[in-house]
Amino acid sequence: RSDGFAEKEKTLAIIKPDGLYDNCTDKIKNAIFDSGFTIVKEMLIQLDEEAAMSFYAEHSSRSFFSSLVEYMTSGPVLIMVLEKENAVADWRALIGPTDASKAKITHPNSIRGMYGLDLQKNCVHGSDSPQSAQREISFFFKEKSSGSAVTEHDEL
Ligand code: TYD
Ligand code: MG
Repeated sequence: RSDGFAEKEKTLAIIKPDGLYDNCTDKIKNAIFDSGFTIVKEMLIQLDEEAAMSFYAEHSSRSFFSSLVEYMTSGPVLIMVLEKENAVADWRALIGPTDASKAKITHPNSIRGMYGLDLQKNCVHGSDSPQSAQREISFFFKEKSSGSAVTEHDEL
């Protein structure tokens, strides 16, 4: 649509433990706002092992899985729902490639390139498709939930 009322899309973003630990949160949020996203929901939580395993279930057979779960439970994470037109693809483009050490060379202005460390400690998560975004948003934000959303993920 060209009338200024284009459909908005939502995606799930997470600032991972290294992103919070290094005090990059404000810089990452500025990049989010500068790129035209609205943060429509936000929640600072400590993931437990069960929640981290469930969130990353698609990677459960990979060699890095247990290390990933350990890392994602090593400190608090900031869960955010971002909204804008084309939010899913635009957020993936803004965060850059998975391996932050490579992103520093190939995508130096991406969030992972600027604030990530390596393949595991890459400071942010982004949903990889609109379907993933829907699933991941409802994983953390359920209407019936009363605060600790990650204790309720039985629909996965
Ligand atoms: P993946 O979904 O492939 O990457 P992305 O976050 O870009 O969608 O992997 C999920 C997370 O798992 C990734 O952000 C970091 C971690 N990971 C590793 O630790 N080692 C690996 O080899 C891969 C592929 C991912
Ligand atoms: Mg992924």
